Amino acid sequence: MILQKWGLFLAVECIFVCVSGQSSPQRRRCAFHVTPQNYRYTDAGNVSGSVQFCENTQCCVGYYVVINGQPKVNVLACDLVEKRCPDATCKAETRMNGLAIMCVCNTDLCNTNITWTPESEESQLSNSLSGDDAAKTASVLVGTLLVLCFLIVVVKCRSLFKAKKKNPPSLEDYGVSRLCFCQTTKPSEIDVEKIELQQIVSHGNFATVWLGKYQESLVAVKVFPAGLKHKFTAEKEVFELPLMRHAGIIHFLGTGRKPDRDSWLIVLQFAEYGSLHSFLHANTSDWVSTLKLCWSLSQGLSYLHSDLHRHNAHKPPIAHRDLNSSNVLVRADATCVLCDFGCSTILHSFSRRHRQSHTTSMSDLAQMGTRRYMSPEILEGSVNLTNPGYLLEGDIYAMALLLWEISMRCSDFFEGSVVPQHLLPYESELGANVTKESLILHVCHMDNRPSIPQHWEQLSQGSALREILTDCWDCDPDARLTAQCVADRLVSLQTSS
Ligand SMILES: *[C@@H]1O[C@H](CO)[C@@H](O)[C@H](O)[C@H]1NC(C)=O
Ligand SMILES: *[C@@H]1O[C@H](CO)[C@@H](O)[C@H](O)[C@H]1NC(C)=O
Ligand SMILES: *[C@@H]1O[C@H](CO)[C@@H](O)[C@H](O)[C@H]1NC(C)=O
Ligand SMILES: *[C@@H]1O[C@H](CO)[C@@H](O)[C@H](O)[C@H]1NC(C)=O
Ligand SMILES: *[C@@H]1O[C@H](CO)[C@@H](O)[C@H](O)[C@H]1NC(C)=O
Ligand SMILES: *[C@@H]1O[C@H](CO)[C@@H](O)[C@H](O)[C@H]1NC(C)=O
Repeated sequence: MILQKWGLFLAVECIFVCVSGQSSPQRRRCAFHVTPQNYRYTDAGNVSGSVQFCENTQCCVGYYVVINGQPKVNVLACDLVEKRCPDATCKAETRMNGLAIMCVCNTDLCNTNITWTPESEESQLSNSLSGDDAAKTASVLVGTLLVLCFLIVVVKCRSLFKAKKKNPPSLEDYGVSRLCFCQTTKPSEIDVEKIELQQIVSHGNFATVWLGKYQESLVAVKVFPAGLKHKFTAEKEVFELPLMRHAGIIHFLGTGRKPDRDSWLIVLQFAEYGSLHSFLHANTSDWVSTLKLCWSLSQGLSYLHSDLHRHNAHKPPIAHRDLNSSNVLVRADATCVLCDFGCSTILHSFSRRHRQSHTTSMSDLAQMGTRRYMSPEILEGSVNLTNPGYLLEGDIYAMALLLWEISMRCSDFFEGSVVPQHLLPYESELGANVTKESLILHVCHMDNRPSIPQHWEQLSQGSALREILTDCWDCDPDARLTAQCVADRLVSLQTSS
């Protein structure tokens, strides 16, 4: 229905344009929509409203981001150069491991009408889990979001509370929701006898993480000593929320209790490349891989922050509150997954309008997280954390530092020179052990941020990335982008690379 409105809108526009005689008839017309940061496609032809008159091509393109199984328009435009576009209608091709779809076609305004067969998110994004979702052949007309997307402007992006939309349940959701039904109906108790602990992977503050084997697959097992049952319970509570299954969040397999030494276990999917910290220490990445790491990270955080109602299930927004490069893991497909929810706050009765959360107790709201990654306002204690917006905005700041860490290992940003060693944020300025006082001085009072090499400004992706970082670590928490907005901007970098 919205699709029809869109069509009508275009038709009216066309009549207007045709009557006012701005177009030459032989020129291809394509629907036009780009994010405000994406200047690239404005060169492909003159734009009138939402129609572009192609300069050099007969091909229209459409790029969509797949968010929670729903395609969302990112770029609609004339193609930049003449390429092959044999089809009259826009047939989707999957990109970036199913995180994006694109299409090209050769008739007027054909890029508004994309034909897409959704595949299981699981099978696209995860090598480690096998999904046999073969029988999905329903073509889905995408268009519901087009009108909405036209209304999205930077301002909308810039506030955490305005940018989120409710996603009504739809056909494309079933991959996630079905898993959720299993999760809510089946107890997640695991038979501890069947877990074979093999070796210690890491010692955290609260738990020891083991590599283990469970039902023939490798798993990570977090073992909490009896005395830290409250930490175990806090993390279990987050994992057991409905709709927590997402490619950007470590998959939760269950919990258990070790009979002998009275310790508590959380069993998780094993992330093959370990923590982002160790990954970045050992590996540099080219631009495409860098973008994939950044994008999957922002998608995961966006999902964590989202307030979802689907099929009678409700996932409230969750603030992670301890994002750092040890608490993000890298899977074999080189995407990031979030883990370590021991400090997280579930914003149960979260109301966007009043920005209040009724169920967070004061003890939950103590300053938490890794000092280095704390946002200026949390470091200084200058905001009242009963306002849950500040918790989410604190996560965005920490994510910006992570995006910086990832980008600083991007080999394409250091062409012709050596990629610097992996460094923690502020490590080169303040050293490996930072004191709270030095951080407050450096970050809050002097308003310093991790330094971005000058020469990135000359690289189109480098300058775009710098803009994203500065918009995410803004000292004004309300001015920061949402995670979803970051993901969207990163996609537009992919399409223009
Ligand atoms: C595009 O618009 C500009 C300014 O309005 C005009 O000078 C130019 O001739 C137009 N180009 C085409 C190909 O119509
Ligand atoms: C969209 O494309 C399909 C075929 O791909 C076609 O059947 C349908 O009529 C098109 N819808 C509109 C509104 O153009
Ligand atoms: C990262 O580096 C490690 C150690 O050098 C290597 O074994 C691994 O294959 C690398 N991973 C990627 C994705 O390049
Ligand atoms: C990340 O946080 C954990 C505590 O949750 C801490 O043990 C670890 O050292 C931190 N990592 C970094 C890179 O700061
Ligand atoms: C923070 O806000 C809550 C509710 O808005 C209020 O009850 C509390 O006193 C405030 N705390 C401080 C330290 O201002
Ligand atoms: C940082 O602190 C750790 C433990 O407190 C210590 O082992 C290490 O030497 C310190 N590093 C520096 C550079 O001071």
